[in-house]
Amino acid sequence: MCGIVAYVGSKPCREFVLDGLLRLEYRGYDSAGFVCVDSQTNRLSFFKEVGGVSVLKKAATLKANGFVGMGHTRWATHGVVDQKNAHPHFNCKKTIAVVHNGIIESYMDIKAQLIKEGHNFCSTTDSEVVAHLFSSLLQSCNDLNKAAQMLAKTLKGAFALVFTFEDYPDILLAIRSRSPLVIGLGIDENFVASDPLAFSDKTSRILFLPDECFAIVKKDSVEVFDFDNKRLEVLPREIDSKYMSVDKQDFEHYMLKEIYEQKRAVTRTLSFYKAIGFPEDSASESVLGHRNIVNSDSLWRQIGLSSEQVKDLRYLNIVAAGTSWHAARIGQFFFEIIAKIPTKVYLSSEFRYMPFFVEKNSAFLFISQSGETADTLEALRLVNSFEVPTITLTNVSSSTMVRESTGFLPMQAGPEISVASTKSFSTQIASLYWLAHRAALERGLLSWQDVTKAEEELFVAAEILESTLDNYRFKITSQLAPFYAQFDKFIFLGRHVSYPFALEAALKLKEVSYIFAQCYPAGELKHGPIALVDKKTPVVIFSSLDDIIYHKLVSNAQEVKAREGHLIVFAFEGQTELLQLADCSFVIPRVKPLLAPLAMTGVMQFLVYQISHELRLPIDKPRNLAKSVTVE
Ligand code: F6R
Repeated sequence: MCGIVAYVGSKPCREFVLDGLLRLEYRGYDSAGFVCVDSQTNRLSFFKEVGGVSVLKKAATLKANGFVGMGHTRWATHGVVDQKNAHPHFNCKKTIAVVHNGIIESYMDIKAQLIKEGHNFCSTTDSEVVAHLFSSLLQSCNDLNKAAQMLAKTLKGAFALVFTFEDYPDILLAIRSRSPLVIGLGIDENFVASDPLAFSDKTSRILFLPDECFAIVKKDSVEVFDFDNKRLEVLPREIDSKYMSVDKQDFEHYMLKEIYEQKRAVTRTLSFYKAIGFPEDSASESVLGHRNIVNSDSLWRQIGLSSEQVKDLRYLNIVAAGTSWHAARIGQFFFEIIAKIPTKVYLSSEFRYMPFFVEKNSAFLFISQSGETADTLEALRLVNSFEVPTITLTNVSSSTMVRESTGFLPMQAGPEISVASTKSFSTQIASLYWLAHRAALERGLLSWQDVTKAEEELFVAAEILESTLDNYRFKITSQLAPFYAQFDKFIFLGRHVSYPFALEAALKLKEVSYIFAQCYPAGELKHGPIALVDKKTPVVIFSSLDDIIYHKLVSNAQEVKAREGHLIVFAFEGQTELLQLADCSFVIPRVKPLLAPLAMTGVMQFLVYQISHELRLPIDKPRNLAKSVTVE
C-alpha cells in the first residue's frame, strides 16, 4: 500500500517521478505528492494533491524541478484523505522530507514526546513523526548514518522510507523494515521505488535493499548498511522487464484488457512450466527473470522441496488472502482429489492468530499475486521460524515473499494493473492444477501421459474462458448489464469447486460495482439465507460438472424459483433442467469437472465489469481499495 518513487542523477527528476508514480498507482491513489531539491533555490520544493497522480500532474503549477526528488501515492491508513495528510512529510524547518509506506505502530508515543520537545505537526499521519524524529536525531549526532540507525531502532512497525535533505542535496536515504524497497541502478543516475515497475523502462539492474537495512543512494554510488551500521555488500541482479508492459493498448480499461489476456497468461504459464533449457548450474543463483524448469529434481528444488519430500508429503497448508484465497480453496480440491494430499487452506489475516501446528512431512504454500501482501508475508515469516518448507506461488518473481520462502513457483500472468484481480486468479488456478498433477506424478499416482493430458485440459478450459465471453459479450453489453446494474443486492451460490468460485464472483461484483453480494454454499440456502430470496434479489448459481452435485444444485435452483426468486445460472452444455429454471443463463462448453471454475471465469468477470461500466464507476481503481495491500 502506498507507492514510493525517488530519483538522484544528472537529469531533472520531476517527469520521471510523476510517471513512475502513475505506474505504482495500483498501490494506492487517494492522494499524491512530489518533492525535490529545487535546482533554482537549493531548497526543498513540493506539491501535494488529493486524488490520483493525474490530478497531481495537472495541479503541478509549482514548476519545481531538481536532480534529486521523490514522490508518493497514498492509500490512507492513519488520518483522513486530505492534502495535509498526503506525503511527503517534513520536519519543522522543512529541510528534511520523507515518504513512507507501511505503518509506524509506535507513532503516538513518539509524537507525544516530540510535541513536548517543541515540534509542531501538520498532519494526523503516523508518517510525519518520522521526519520530526529524524531531524531531532540528526541534530543530536550530526551523522546521517548514525541518525538512520537510531531512527530504525526506535520505530516499531513496518516501514519503507525515503528521505531527501536540503543539507545533503545529492543524497537519497532509503530505509526498510518489512515493507518493500528496491534500488534501480542507472548510468549517472539511480532510482528507488516500492516496485521495479516504476523504473522498468530505465534499467534492468536492480539492487534489492535487504530487510532491516538502509542505503545512502547517490547518482554514482549506493552504500548499504544494516541497522547496526555495518556496511554490507549487496550484489545487483538483472530483471527480465519483458513482462513489465503497462500499456493499456486499445482497451478502455485495464480490467478488460486483463480479462482478455487470461487465455494467453494460462498458456504462457503452462509453456513456461513445460519449458526445457534452463542450465542446471544457474538454478542456484537468484534470478529475477523467470527460470525454466528442466526436470523433476530441478522443479522441486526451485519449489523448495526434494522429490522425496513430495513423495512423503502428508499435509499441505495453503495461506492466502482475497482472490488468492479463493484460488487456494479451489486448489484444495486439486491437491486432495488428484495428488491425495490432505490440504488445509487458511486466510492469511487470521492465520497468525490461530493455534499453529507444524506436522511432520508437511509443507506450506503461500499464494499471492503481488508477493507483498502484508498478511500473507507475515504468515510466511511466522512459518519460516519453524523447520518446514515454505513455497510461494506468485506473479512477481522479484517480490519479498519469493526472497523469503524456501522456494517458489512463478506464474506468467504479466503485470496486473487493474485493482480487481482477473488474470492472476485464472493463472493461479492453472498453476495449482498443474502442480497437483506434477505432485501426483511424483507420488506414483499418475503417469507422464496424465500430466500432458492435464495440460491439454487446461488449454481447453482457457480457450473456453475466452470463447464463452465472446459469445455473450454483445448480450451482456446491450441487455444484461443495463438490467442487472439496477439491482442493489445479489445472492451467489455454488457447491463443491464452484463454491469458492462463487465467493470470487461475489467479491468481484462488490469490488467493482459496489453492489452488495452475499455468497453461500448452495446447500446452506435452506438453513437460513433463503429468507432473503425475493424478486428484488437475483440469485446466481454456478453449476458443477459432477453429476451428483449438479442434481443437488437443480434442487437448490427449484427452492429459489418456488419463492419467486430471479435466477441467473452459469451452466454447462446439456444441463437442461437447470437451464429451464433460469431467468437468465450462460451456457458454457463442457470441460474437465475440476476446471469448471476456470471455464466460467471470463464470462463472470465480463458481466461484473460491464455492470460497473453501466454504473460509470472507476473500474480499474474502485473506491477505498489498493492493489498491493502491504499493511496488516
Ligand atoms: C481482489 C483482489 C484482492 C487480492 C488480495 C491478495 O480482486 O485483488 O482480494 O487478491 O488483496 O492479494 P495478493 O494476491 O497480491 O496477495
